[in-house]
Amino acid sequence: MTDLLTRIEDQPPEVLDVIARSMSIRAAEPAMQSICARYMREIGVQDAHVLEVGCGNGAVTQLIMQHLRPTRLLGIDPSSLFIKMANETFNGEPRASFERGDAASTGQPDASFDIVIAHTVYSHLLDPKGALAEAWRVLKPGGQLVVFDGDFATLGVALFDGDPLQSAVAAVLRNMVHAPYIMRRLPVLAAAAGFCVQSLDPHGYVQTTHPDYLLTLLSRGTSAAGRAGEIGQALVDGYEREAQRRVANGTFYGSMLFLSLTARKIDDAP
Ligand SMILES: C[S@@+](CC[C@H](N)C(=O)[O-])C[C@H]1O[C@@H](n2cnc3c(N)ncnc32)[C@H](O)[C@@H]1O
Repeated sequence: MTDLLTRIEDQPPEVLDVIARSMSIRAAEPAMQSICARYMREIGVQDAHVLEVGCGNGAVTQLIMQHLRPTRLLGIDPSSLFIKMANETFNGEPRASFERGDAASTGQPDASFDIVIAHTVYSHLLDPKGALAEAWRVLKPGGQLVVFDGDFATLGVALFDGDPLQSAVAAVLRNMVHAPYIMRRLPVLAAAAGFCVQSLDPHGYVQTTHPDYLLTLLSRGTSAAGRAGEIGQALVDGYEREAQRRVANGTFYGSMLFLSLTARKIDDAP
């Protein structure tokens, strides 16, 4: 297991900067914005107190503020640098605050939030059961859990059988995604944590002409494979050049399924 995001506080500032840039690029993409609008629109709670788990640099917090219009949002993340970035971005926004915290130990009081939301976080968690138990604890009765993530096992860039660029995806999964199948297992895990699961919705994501996020993902995964000594720099550069060649000649293709789960805390005891 080498997912950088599971050991975020061990990463040097230059790696964190690249990850933060990638979060901002993805949140700004029209394709991701329309997926967020679709799944966040389903979460209809007025005057909500929201806990955003794994908020990163606050890139998706902007979209949560826009669609959920919470009275109060607290974002938590284990990375002090990301928390600093989020605090700077939301300086002057009295409804939003950010502090260090872990999905499995948020430090928040029992039954204090209407919504707990985690956007592309569960695939990086070492302890998803602990995170679900903690979400259940801090939610008010009737409160809603919303988990959105990539079904990373579906990530594909191949144009033909045996396409060598697809092996860059394997480097991404090895180095950037601890739990590529987590969203497939989440309904059962959420039910076991005491939640009443309401929906698991699919969101197709396809990029051809403007694959900026996918390019950063491939590049971060292959660079991490290079740093780990799995492959040499020549191959890291080769993946980058091949991906860029396909973008330049209009043949690049990348796709992934994202899934959003919504679940409710119905009872007082799990
Ligand atoms: C792919 S980023 C997503 C950030 C943000 N939600 C977004 O979509 O832009 C995953 C985030 O999960 C955070 N993370 C990793 N392990 C975590 C944990 N145990 N508890 C909470 N957050 C965690 C990372 O620091 C990182 O900010």
